Amino acid sequence: MKKPKIFIACDTTSPNVIKKIISHTKTNKLNIGYKFGLEFFCSKDGRKFISKLKNKEIFLDLKLNDIPNTCASAIHSLRDLKNISYLTVHTNGGYEMLKTIKKASKKINKKLKILGVTVLTSFSNSSIKKIGHTKSIKDLVKKQAVLAKSAKLDGIVCSGYEIKLLRKICKRMDIVAPGIRLKEDSADDQKRVVTPKNAFKNGATAIVMGRSITKGNIKNNIQKLIKSL
Ligand code: C5P
Repeated sequence: MKKPKIFIACDTTSPNVIKKIISHTKTNKLNIGYKFGLEFFCSKDGRKFISKLKNKEIFLDLKLNDIPNTCASAIHSLRDLKNISYLTVHTNGGYEMLKTIKKASKKINKKLKILGVTVLTSFSNSSIKKIGHTKSIKDLVKKQAVLAKSAKLDGIVCSGYEIKLLRKICKRMDIVAPGIRLKEDSADDQKRVVTPKNAFKNGATAIVMGRSITKGNIKNNIQKLIKSL
């Protein structure tokens, strides 16, 4: 059986904290990769640190969202980072942007997978209305998944609640779920949280876990995660 794939969200500006996260999450029971967002990538030593990481699966969570030309240029500027496996873009950027990004990514690294972020897991149905959406999250993510598929992205990012629904659209594409919490953990700012077990049961190809693993005793948290699966 395939090992469950977990991306640990390395949400910090400190390379030393990341070194600790990496050394404390070693286990042969899980397939662990590391996710870096804007916080670390934009920090003084972040980009360089990432460029030197070897033999790790790296997920660069930049959530690009701009005009197609600007996004294509951003992709080109990543061409020296040959060790990245996944990169995120907002599906809200629209079909042209998604297509342009996918095309640009093929030029810099054929193995780089582009994931389209649907509705962030920190949104609820009421908060999505406040930014002008009239559709429910369920309807919105369906539209975004169709868009991601038509632009030939490699996968999507969605909450654990929407995986079953979107699997019907995304068929063989990757579906990565953030907003993951162990039963006893607090949801923090996340609104649509599910447990690791349920996310995989619903069909996630990988999950993203930040604070549930990185807050407190990391080794113990990894053991709790393994037990919960
Ligand atoms: O600490 P926590 O597990 O909530 O962290 C979730 C991580 O996943 C953060 O790095 C966040 O930026 C990212 N993410 C998310 N929701 C999305 C896409 C990415 O929470 N839809």
